[in-house]
Amino acid sequence: MSMLEGAPWLLAHKSMLSVNQPLKVSLYGTDYVLWKDSQDNVNALPNICPHMGAMLSEGWCEQQEDNSSVVVCPFHALEFDHTGCTILPGTHQKTLPQLSPLELIIQGEFIWTYGGYEPKIPIPNILNKIEQQYEFIGYIGDTSVPTDLQSMLLNMHDYNHQNGTHRELFKITEVQFKKFIDNGYSSEAFFHTPTAPSSVLDKLKNPSLFMLPDIIEAHLENYFPSLVIFHGDNSLAKIAQCHLFIPESMNQTRTYVLLFAQKKSPFFNFFSQQFLKLSKTIVEQDAEILTKIYTDSPQKIKLNNEIGMDWVKRNFARWSDN
Ligand code: FES
Ligand SMILES: [Fe+2]
Repeated sequence: MSMLEGAPWLLAHKSMLSVNQPLKVSLYGTDYVLWKDSQDNVNALPNICPHMGAMLSEGWCEQQEDNSSVVVCPFHALEFDHTGCTILPGTHQKTLPQLSPLELIIQGEFIWTYGGYEPKIPIPNILNKIEQQYEFIGYIGDTSVPTDLQSMLLNMHDYNHQNGTHRELFKITEVQFKKFIDNGYSSEAFFHTPTAPSSVLDKLKNPSLFMLPDIIEAHLENYFPSLVIFHGDNSLAKIAQCHLFIPESMNQTRTYVLLFAQKKSPFFNFFSQQFLKLSKTIVEQDAEILTKIYTDSPQKIKLNNEIGMDWVKRNFARWSDN
């Protein structure tokens, strides 16, 4: 199994960080503390305090005179600045860096990193375009799933799992696959999925069903390995539902959703929270099935429309080849 060293990962959208509130994130088996100061600067250090190993993310932040902030260890209150330096009690001088910062690439609201590895592919600029053209609605479903990255990505590019994994939501009667455009490490998939009608009672129980059309016309834009965008369009809004993936360790993979919309109707405001809830349910259902499969078992049956999964497998193989 590979964690695809050299790929860019979107650790967070800035809205996921509260000012001066440390947050723990993990990548490639290392924990980091991430914090945003009052000037919107984002910093990242390894999460292990070099004194006696406390988790810095369990501490707090102190604002400095210049409005930057330091992270304070919860154990003995040593303060670390964004370069990893501290001032030992009784001295008035900064130490040399005791922690080496994780290099971040901040693009607008997006916090990317290569995790300290040599970049192998560029950061996709699609999110910057979406940020310009759409309104940011929110993030949802930040979940750490005990599975490897490849299993997570296979699930996301599996166009046949709706009736199993998401059966209560979609009731899809068939997958009409239209087109798959393979551009190497990026791709696009177009398919239509007619849905069985839901009763009014079902819809009242789950109002997000009001947003689902009779035929879901799916357009997925895929950026291997960290991003899948589901484009949707209905009378209320055009939406871009962005699914992000991060290999926290060999057998732990994080996912979350950023939702963007171009509103067409004032009613969308009412439904946008429902839509976030729907996205959350989808993430939870995927997370659930991912803990219930034998990931190393050989696949002995092949279904139609597995082209997205084939694309994922090929890209994993290609990554380790060069
Ligand atoms: S463990 Fe962090 S200050 Fe002691
Ligand atoms: Fe799914």
